[in-house]
Amino acid sequence: MALPKINPTTTNTWKKLSKHYTENKDTHLRQLFAKDKNRGKKFSIQWNDFLVDYSKNRITEETLSLLLDLAEEVKLKEAMEGYFGGDLINQTEGRAVLHTALRAKKGDVVHVDGKNVVEEVYQVKEKIKSFSEAVILGNKKGFTGKAFTDVVNIGIGGSDLGPVMVTDALKFYQNHLKTHFVSNVDGDHVHEVLKELNPETTLFVIVSKSFTTQETLSNALTIKKWFLENASQEDVAKHFVAVSTNLEKIEEFGIADDNVFPMWDWVGGRFSLWSAVGLSIALSVGYQNFDDLLVGAHTMDTHFKEAPFSENIPVVLALLSVWYNNFYGAETEAIIPYTQYLHRFSAYLQQGIMESNGKSVDRAGNRVDLQTGTIIWGEPGTNSQHAFFQLIHQGTKLIPTDFIGYKKSLHGDVDHHNKLMANFFAQTEALMNGKTVDEVKNELEAQGVSENEQKSLLPFKVFEGNKPTNTILINKLTPKSLGALIALYEHKIFVQGVIWNIFSYDQWGVELGKQLAKTILSDIENSEIGKHDSSTLRLLQFFKS
Ligand code: F6P
Repeated sequence: MALPKINPTTTNTWKKLSKHYTENKDTHLRQLFAKDKNRGKKFSIQWNDFLVDYSKNRITEETLSLLLDLAEEVKLKEAMEGYFGGDLINQTEGRAVLHTALRAKKGDVVHVDGKNVVEEVYQVKEKIKSFSEAVILGNKKGFTGKAFTDVVNIGIGGSDLGPVMVTDALKFYQNHLKTHFVSNVDGDHVHEVLKELNPETTLFVIVSKSFTTQETLSNALTIKKWFLENASQEDVAKHFVAVSTNLEKIEEFGIADDNVFPMWDWVGGRFSLWSAVGLSIALSVGYQNFDDLLVGAHTMDTHFKEAPFSENIPVVLALLSVWYNNFYGAETEAIIPYTQYLHRFSAYLQQGIMESNGKSVDRAGNRVDLQTGTIIWGEPGTNSQHAFFQLIHQGTKLIPTDFIGYKKSLHGDVDHHNKLMANFFAQTEALMNGKTVDEVKNELEAQGVSENEQKSLLPFKVFEGNKPTNTILINKLTPKSLGALIALYEHKIFVQGVIWNIFSYDQWGVELGKQLAKTILSDIENSEIGKHDSSTLRLLQFFKS
């Protein structure tokens, strides 16, 4: 079944939301909190070890109820059935979208083309398990009989960002293997990584769903050449493994059959860390932790599938995002984890969110008449407080922000953790309340500042407040809670795509640049430069001179 094709701007609810926005847009969060002592509890969802507080948003009960009506009116429930059921909802590529099947329970049944894909998933999981355990325990050895000490993941985009983000996020759980990532076609990247490696004890994991990606193939070839400086062609089989859907190309590269980890076209690259694309994760933290990550994601899948929309975390967060994006005209959203372990989280979500929902054509093939795809950015707190928070607090732009924090720190340094979390709570309170003229005056007076000076300083010291935030407070950063957190954002992407009436699972927009780069590479490598605009031509001439 295809996804419904409903332009949200033509729905009754959209009209009601527009009116509601006009009537309420200037209400300050302070007023809303003053009016309702129960607001914090009312607008929050407690689920497993997550507490999601969305009360510091510019919403009333009416706003939420209208947003929930919108979800009904665009037939979100029906779309979810297609998503989980294996319908070809990636219509422009004729594919199902089943990253959820990668973390399904053993024995579950999800059909694609009449075949139960969960069985294949479990076969590959078994292979990930036995392979990763053999490497970690030192039973699988390199060409000189030494155990592996280093693993290099060679991939880009979805074949890099998920594994990098998760291995960093779960660093606390890491074993003795050192994991490296080579992604950029910039040769300086691969050569810097190679500097640290010993070919005798390094395992290379080539990850490319298509196995045609220029960056990955160039890096893999450069690495193979470096490896062959010290080893023979037969040794390649001991040191190179590949994860791909393109088994033919893998064979051409010379990877041994045993070292091939299949994946499927019903898994999008940016949602693939749960498949063998996550092999470097399993190698880094062990299979059990990798599996726990999947278990955590599955619990969020179940929550998303079963919870009523009003208590459904991905649904509520997606609706709030639509509220700001489409009614308040907010263009960006910040995601600020208060843990250094998640320092690549927003970079990872940039691909997930922006490659999925950065679309301007609706599901009927027409130009959309609304804003889609939010711009995502962020860095961990507290570092980000000392970098760009000024703009969020006192700038002219509205930037809805997600704060992600943990009750417990992993190393258990209570002193540091209390300070970290004091900042975490202080920021959302400050963003919400701001600081009024009277508060500034009183403060300056208490400091003994003269009346004249008070007057001149006042406008700069006032904080408007009324800045929306969501707080996601989780017990502890574990493989399970991380899996659930990632899945939360994956489902949020889905819900927003459904509401905006766009296809979230293709990425045609990345193709043009790739095509042009091929032509320009031949302009660079050959003596003649082909036809270009005067700017590109001059730049190419200067580059070649
Ligand atoms: O260029 C974008 C993209 O197609 C992503 O969607 C994908 O994650 C990445 O390239 C890498 O592709 P592959 O895994 O096929 O090498």
